[in-house]
Amino acid sequence: MGVRVGFLGAGLIANFHALGLFESGEDVAFAGVHDPDHARAEEFAAGWGATAEPSEAAVFDGCDAVYVCTWTSEHERLVAEACRRGLPVFCEKPLAFDGDRAEAMAAAVEAAGVINQVGLVLRSSPAFGYLRHLVADPAAGRVMSVVFRDDQYIPVQGMYASVWRGDKERAGAGTLLEHSIHDVDILEHAIGPVASVSARSANFHGLDGIEDSVATVFDLEGGGVGVHTTIWHDVMERPSLRRVEVFCERRHLVLEGDWDGPLSWTTTGEEAGEQVLAGDALREACRAAGVTTVNPDAAFVQAVAAGRAATPSFRDAVRPHRLVDAIYRSAAGGGSPVRP
Ligand SMILES: NC(=O)c1ccc[n+]([C@@H]2O[C@H](COP(=O)([O-])OP(=O)(O)OC[C@H]3O[C@@H](n4cnc5c(N)ncnc54)[C@H](O)[C@@H]3O)[C@@H](O)[C@H]2O)c1
Repeated sequence: MGVRVGFLGAGLIANFHALGLFESGEDVAFAGVHDPDHARAEEFAAGWGATAEPSEAAVFDGCDAVYVCTWTSEHERLVAEACRRGLPVFCEKPLAFDGDRAEAMAAAVEAAGVINQVGLVLRSSPAFGYLRHLVADPAAGRVMSVVFRDDQYIPVQGMYASVWRGDKERAGAGTLLEHSIHDVDILEHAIGPVASVSARSANFHGLDGIEDSVATVFDLEGGGVGVHTTIWHDVMERPSLRRVEVFCERRHLVLEGDWDGPLSWTTTGEEAGEQVLAGDALREACRAAGVTTVNPDAAFVQAVAAGRAATPSFRDAVRPHRLVDAIYRSAAGGGSPVRP
């Protein structure tokens, strides 16, 4: 029998991971699923051939690896239980409300010796993978400037319909921690390390502790400067979108569509002029350039089956948590520069 996978939480992202596992073709058996919203657990179980369980313990008892897909405030406790039982664990981002708790969770999985992976999935994106490849190309020169915008309608409504994202006791904070921790992670992973941040934030929806607009100016260790802005708005007609523009000394790049592109770029002196890649052509270019774009769920169960470390790990998530903390500290201080 393949890896028996259990689920804690049967909401939106649990279903995404179940689809990822299903599509992976890996030897996986859907085991138990628990959600205090029993109807959700039943629906998930019926959809994926899992068993709806009345308790967290029943899920832990019946699996070889567990996905923690609950709202954020439950992550640490459930990961601690996986550690106690020596079970491999995939935990959604953000790991916790702040960098110190994320660090403690990374230390806990390491001390327990359990295989661990975090849902920082943009690291598997073909668009960001190829952007990283083009930015690292010596022909591009150094990064001078970045303009990174991330926007989403506030997810207490619409497809997400998750009231908990408006509750700081369960979400920890608003758009930056809950959603754009992905951005600060991929910014450093694909473009370069951040030396310091200076930020401002706003709260239009009036949800206590849930900011819905944050703008950050950052210095890159390599000498460039950039801006990042994240917004939870009410333009329901828009899907969740990111747009990233990078000016290098000799190359200009624009990423629109954070998974399949389009990614376009122009390099000075190249006859081809502006080049554009999207969809299958982008994936093919990734393959040709040796840019890995794995299915994160396949990668997790392969690591579990082989008994080897998974990536991105909890340890990899500590740094973006520290960056998020630094941005919040700067905004609380009226925009003074903070080194993460
Ligand atoms: N990686 C990504 O791109 C991505 C995308 C969306 C969400 N997320 C993260 O995934 C997590 C869940 O988000 P979602 O969109 O699936 O939310 P959701 O509201 O759709 O589902 C969360 C579910 O967790 C359940 N739950 C709460 N406590 C539980 C417990 N102790 N045991 C079992 N179930 C419990 C809730 O009842 C709810 O059904 C959050 O941490 C979120 O930040 C990550």
